[in-house]
Amino acid sequence: MDYLQTKQSTSLSGTVTISGAKNASLPLIAMSILAKNRVTITNLPKVADIKTLLQLLTNLGAECVFIDDGVTIDTSTINKTTATYDIVRTMRASILILGPILSRFGHCEVSLPGGCAIGQRPVDLHLKALEQMGATIEIKAGYIQAKAPQGLKGANIIFDKITVTGTANVVMAAALANGVTTITNAAREPEVVQLCEVLAKSGVKIEGIGTAILTITGTNKELLNIEPFEIIPDRIEAGTYLCAGAITNSTITLKKVEPEHLHAVTSKLEEMGFSFSSTKDTLTIHPAKEILPVRIVTQEYPAFPTDMQAQFLALATQANGVSIIEERLFENRFMHVSELQRMGADITLNGHIATVKGKTQLSGTDVMATDLRASSALVLAALVANGTTNIHRIYHLDRGYVELEKKLETLGVDIQRLKE
Ligand code: EPZ
Repeated sequence: MDYLQTKQSTSLSGTVTISGAKNASLPLIAMSILAKNRVTITNLPKVADIKTLLQLLTNLGAECVFIDDGVTIDTSTINKTTATYDIVRTMRASILILGPILSRFGHCEVSLPGGCAIGQRPVDLHLKALEQMGATIEIKAGYIQAKAPQGLKGANIIFDKITVTGTANVVMAAALANGVTTITNAAREPEVVQLCEVLAKSGVKIEGIGTAILTITGTNKELLNIEPFEIIPDRIEAGTYLCAGAITNSTITLKKVEPEHLHAVTSKLEEMGFSFSSTKDTLTIHPAKEILPVRIVTQEYPAFPTDMQAQFLALATQANGVSIIEERLFENRFMHVSELQRMGADITLNGHIATVKGKTQLSGTDVMATDLRASSALVLAALVANGTTNIHRIYHLDRGYVELEKKLETLGVDIQRLKE
């Protein structure tokens, strides 16, 4: 297994190019199941989760061909509708094939995704919505067995909780359904918006894009002609690099970024004393005279994203004062705290609330990554920790960050990927 050896950085400088969004790519790859033509996707981030989903589609019989900065997918050759445990357990977002496969083929079996480090991650809301659309769903031997031999029909779905992949699954199922589906309490994340926009451009009538109420008029199993499209920039990768600039109090510029998608993150950084300059697709962070403490509550978009919680917790160790960070979406998303405490961070956990006292000088040591965003928090801490920090189990990072160490090197970080 690889590990990252990172030396303390005095300050960073330069420009980093943001890759396509992992969490936009996954539903958009699943959406290719709804197409009659070969679908071309560019600006696709070459990270492990994307490779896993493409492998799953290949296992079902689709043909995926990598092109220079993306992939083309032909799903006309799909001849299986079962997503097996071996692949689903490595990437729970495999659940995203359920809606499209069910609406196109009338049956689908997906291994229950199970939980992960950050929480239980149930899919009950996905299943309840598909049942309302006429599917019969049984759970047998750890598998979701979904059937809709007559096809799915439009329904009025009200999500008890806002669910990002739940919204994506139902939007895709509704695209081929017979009739109109409304989704109330829909997720409004930019990744869901792009899925809706691509479907709308492919002939699916969708109203309310970007709002909490979506209305989708299905094509009644008429497959879609999907034009080539480019994945939107990854706002969480971008936020992570902004935190790299912030934690080292440096000036760095992000290229190919969508500042619109980062307002909740940049406004919190401004509260901490940082400032920004931007153009249409670049964003520069400027140092703070003094890094101020912050209060954060994670909520659904457009509020502060849970996927940036770990990174801000690491940053808060460098603020002068007491920061309060509350995690409201996942029940176990503080796995990074114990490792940060081992580096000397003064953090008190009380249920879902972390209290961080700063400024503390962190010390480099060996630390263990536990989940994707927790790992990025450890990398950020390593930038300011005395000496050398070795971050182990970085396969977690490889799930969602394109060439992290190379991008940090371009910013002046002394970081190497080594073999255990
Ligand atoms: C998506 O996960 C993202 N993953 C996550 O990013 C992100 O943290 C999360 O949304 C929240 O923004 C992808 O898009 C692939 P949810 P998702 O369904 O869709 C509960 C990363 O680091 N819930 O919006 O699985 C659930 O337990 C990853 O890139 C149910 O109770 O999250 C959670 O408390 C981590 N029943 C809340 O809703 C359901 O059927 C939000 O979950 C579905 C969800």
